Amino acid sequence: MSGAFTKTMARNIFYGGSAFFIFIFIALTFDTVGALPERDHRENINEQVILGKRVWENNNCVGCHTLMGEGAYFAPELANVYNRFGNSKEAIIGFIKSRPVDGIPGRRSMPQFNLSDEELEGVAEFLKWTSEVDDANWPPNIQG
Ligand code: HEC
Repeated sequence: MSGAFTKTMARNIFYGGSAFFIFIFIALTFDTVGALPERDHRENINEQVILGKRVWENNNCVGCHTLMGEGAYFAPELANVYNRFGNSKEAIIGFIKSRPVDGIPGRRSMPQFNLSDEELEGVAEFLKWTSEVDDANWPPNIQG
């Protein structure tokens, strides 16, 4: 047997390796998708949460904030803002209504979005739902 590395051997390694990693990819995809319903508590997504998500998108909140680490790094992470604000939707609503304010050191205040009471309730409910998603404890501390 010669020690040469033939084209056939190279092809077999390529096909074998590809098949192996495609299999692992598919298995991990099933594993992730299977675990999601338990982790995201989708049974708690009600009309208000849906409205809040729309408000979130229409006002581009993610253009300044991160949510579970995704988004822009201008303003605080909001995945756990509900907990940071003492598990209070009223505190979130009060905060959003109160902006902008002067004198925040090092950065500008959040702008005013003129949301209706219904939209404010929705966005607070959306942020409450987000705080209850099992995202492997991200962010790692209460400050966000
Ligand atoms: C133009 C950038 C910008 C956008 C867009 C924005 N925010 Fe903010 N937000 C900020 C900044 C800056 C702060 C912190 C400064 C402050 O206290 O005003 C903040 C703070 C917050 C806080 C308090 C966070 C904390 O831990 O103190 C909440 C809640 C919040 N924003 C919600 C929202 C929601 C909901 C939206 C979309 C409707 C939104 N933000 C859109 C800039 C933004």
